[in-house]
Amino acid sequence: MHPDYDHLQKAAKDHLWMHFTRHSTYDHADVPIIVRGEGAYIWDAQGKRYLDGLAGLFVSQLGHGRTELADAAAKQARELAFMPLWSYAHPTAIELAERVASYAPGDLNRVFFTSGGGEAVETAWKLAKNYFKLTGKPMKHKVISRAIAYHGTTQGALSITGLPGLKAQFEPLVP
Ligand SMILES: Cc1ncc(COP(=O)(O)O)c(C=O)c1O
Repeated sequence: MHPDYDHLQKAAKDHLWMHFTRHSTYDHADVPIIVRGEGAYIWDAQGKRYLDGLAGLFVSQLGHGRTELADAAAKQARELAFMPLWSYAHPTAIELAERVASYAPGDLNRVFFTSGGGEAVETAWKLAKNYFKLTGKPMKHKVISRAIAYHGTTQGALSITGLPGLKAQFEPLVP
């Protein structure tokens, strides 16, 4: 059992607003608390082990507890905490862009960084709209998405998500 378990339970119920969660579920039950991970496995506060088959939300495919990744993040934080790529660049952004471009096929050679999937979807959509404005088709703005396609929870990404039940409470969304 995690040494701070009771406090964590109470604080989670009092202060933590969880994503995609019906909070009343936890009125009479404990909030599941995951405390650590190693490789493809994670452990909860009671010591139960789970296979993290979803890799977080498809973001920790390289595994939990990778000290080389933690060290790289620590090194970067010590060197330069944050720098927006608004007219300025920094070495790690340049190097990563070059590396990602080297994996991409054909003439896909430029990388635009975002902080997550929903933002990436919105950015791609905005780029497409702008492209058609610049090439003489300013009203070409429709997006076709597949039923059940999940594209994220931000307004734009949600608008092209193909899950009506996720969208209804936030309508009207982006036309
Ligand atoms: C296909 C797809 N697009 C977009 C997203 C949204 O990504 P994020 O949660 O990082 O905004 C997800 C997240 O699960 C996804 O699976």
